[in-house]
Amino acid sequence: MNAPVHDADPMSFCPIHQGRRARLAALLREAGGGVLVWPTAPERVRNSDTLHPYRADSSFLYLTGFDEPEAWLILDDAGRSTLLCRPRDAEREIWDGLRLGPDAAPRALGVDEAHEVAELDAALAQRLADAPQVWLPFGDDDVSHQAGQAVHRALGAVRARERSGVRPPAALRDARPLLDEMRLVKDAHEQALMRHAGRIAAAAHVRAMQACQPGRREYELEAELLHAFRSAGAAGPAYPSIVAAGAHACVLHYAAGATELRDGELCLIDAGCEWQGYASDITRTFPVNGRFSGPQRALYDLVLAAQQAAIEATRPGARRLDAHWAAVRLLTQGLLDLKLLRADAVGSVDDAIERAAYRRFYMHGTGHWLGLDVHDVGDVLQRDEPPLEQPDGMGGRVVKHPSRRLVPGMVLTIEPGLYVRPADDVPEAFHHIGIRIEDDALVTPDGCELLTRDVPVAAEEIEALMRG
Ligand code: GLY
Ligand code: MN
Ligand code: MN
Repeated sequence: MNAPVHDADPMSFCPIHQGRRARLAALLREAGGGVLVWPTAPERVRNSDTLHPYRADSSFLYLTGFDEPEAWLILDDAGRSTLLCRPRDAEREIWDGLRLGPDAAPRALGVDEAHEVAELDAALAQRLADAPQVWLPFGDDDVSHQAGQAVHRALGAVRARERSGVRPPAALRDARPLLDEMRLVKDAHEQALMRHAGRIAAAAHVRAMQACQPGRREYELEAELLHAFRSAGAAGPAYPSIVAAGAHACVLHYAAGATELRDGELCLIDAGCEWQGYASDITRTFPVNGRFSGPQRALYDLVLAAQQAAIEATRPGARRLDAHWAAVRLLTQGLLDLKLLRADAVGSVDDAIERAAYRRFYMHGTGHWLGLDVHDVGDVLQRDEPPLEQPDGMGGRVVKHPSRRLVPGMVLTIEPGLYVRPADDVPEAFHHIGIRIEDDALVTPDGCELLTRDVPVAAEEIEALMRG
């Protein structure tokens, strides 16, 4: 996180996070009431006494704007919020920096009260007494484990007082679906942050393209990206940057290595930054020498056309998977036209889609939710509509709820690609070509706004940029 909340203008964050807590309290009331308990992420040791750079839990950040470790939020269905946090500590602050501390927290964060984290168990035992149910994150991750352990300790303490008339909560409920739904639709504040994250990442891609020439290495372009992220004030990459020379582009989760960028090959960069907690996620594929070859250009233009079809399918009322199927249709037709798929083997475009013959060259989805997490939270299915039979994407059929209908404020990536591994039945000119084009789209009332188009995407524009 950049600009920790107590270094920036703290009061400017309050109403936003207070408003989110009030909305969550209303959701708790609708769902039978109770008390929510949500810790932030623990610090992680890298080795010896060195820690990984700290990153708060995304939902905790969403509800509080507070990015110090060892913090907890307790929120009841009346909207009363309690923060538990590290105490001020003159000795530790010499080493680790300033802490907000419980005295300053109510004014800085707009919480109703704050205590030292050492008082967590006592605070929880008090707040859970006579609460109808407890809401906490469920799961096999550190945040969920911490929450579960603290809640069970508190339930034990409440139960020990039962003879004085208090009742422990009757149910534990998973709070994740409530938070995930809230986070799925971005408010105006989040949209502005995501626009900025997109702009920084786009500038970083421009910088890397301009720095590219035969003989440079993957890590050198990664360094250009890092320079652009950090010098714009972003916390750093939102995920490990992919800088893939030539055939490495066909390894979907390749990380930037030391391979030389060679004349005549492509370079694929998938990189985004984190700005105020929010991720951007961009992929561009460009020729190392600044000019696409014929076969590279044929595949590039096909992926770009597929992306355009997916962008047009990204609008309110459309389903999340409409973009995927629009891209798959374009790609499959193109693969047939270019003879990468042979009609005598896979049949018509409809047959090839039905059998998922395209998966040989396009094996991932066309997008994911984007927000505080690069693969952001939010249900992908429209569960209030009845299940129906549909393609499972692997060549079979499955019965499940239809995919989610898009509404304004959702943000998702649109990232079709093609990855051609050598094979006897594949024309050699296409061997080892991997191409992905990825932009971030905010669903608007009329369609979608691309947040990441400050970096060129059309082949001629990329070539012109690299010539310049
Ligand atoms: N960069 C991660 C993704 O594109 O999903
Ligand atoms: Mn992505
Ligand atoms: Mn990506």
